[in-house]
Amino acid sequence: MLNLNVEKILVAQIEKEAYSSNLYLAMASWAENNGFEGTAQWLYTQAEEEHTHMLRFIAYINERGGKAIIPALKQPPMEYIDIRDLFEYVFKHEKYISDSINDIVGICIDEKDFSTNNWIQWFVNEQIEEEKSVRNIIDKLNLLGGHSLYLFDKDIMSMRAVANNQQ
Ligand code: FEO
Repeated sequence: MLNLNVEKILVAQIEKEAYSSNLYLAMASWAENNGFEGTAQWLYTQAEEEHTHMLRFIAYINERGGKAIIPALKQPPMEYIDIRDLFEYVFKHEKYISDSINDIVGICIDEKDFSTNNWIQWFVNEQIEEEKSVRNIIDKLNLLGGHSLYLFDKDIMSMRAVANNQQ
C-alpha cells in the first residue's frame, strides 16, 4: 500500500501533468493561429508527452493500491506576446514541474518509500532533458534576436523530427 502522504503528492502531480498537456495544447493553438507551424507541431508533441506522463502517475498510483483521481483543470492562458514570451513561459512552467518532482522525491525519502523514490527517478531525468531542450530553443531565439523567425520555425520542426526518431 502507498503511504498516504506519498499518495497525496502523486495525486496532485496527476493534475500538474494534465494541466501541462492542456497548457501546451493552448500554446500550440496560439502558434498555429500566428503562422508558426513548426512551433505548433513541437507543442502538440509536447502536449502528447505530458499526457503520457499523467497516465504514468495514474497507473502507478492504482497499481500500488492507491486511488488515482482525475482532476478538473483550470483554463490555460490563450494569448502570448510573441514566440519568445511563449517559450519563456514553457521554461518557467518546466522549472515549476521539476520543483514539484523534487518535492515528491523529498516526501518519498521522509516517508522511507524507496520503491516510489526509485520509480520517480525516471521523471527526475526527464525534467533535466525537458529543461535542457527548452533552454536550447531560447538560446536559438536569443541568437536570432527577433530576426528570421521563419527559419527558427522551420528549425524547430526538424528538432521535433529528430526527437521522434529517437523514441
Ligand atoms: Fe511532465 Fe514537462 O513535465
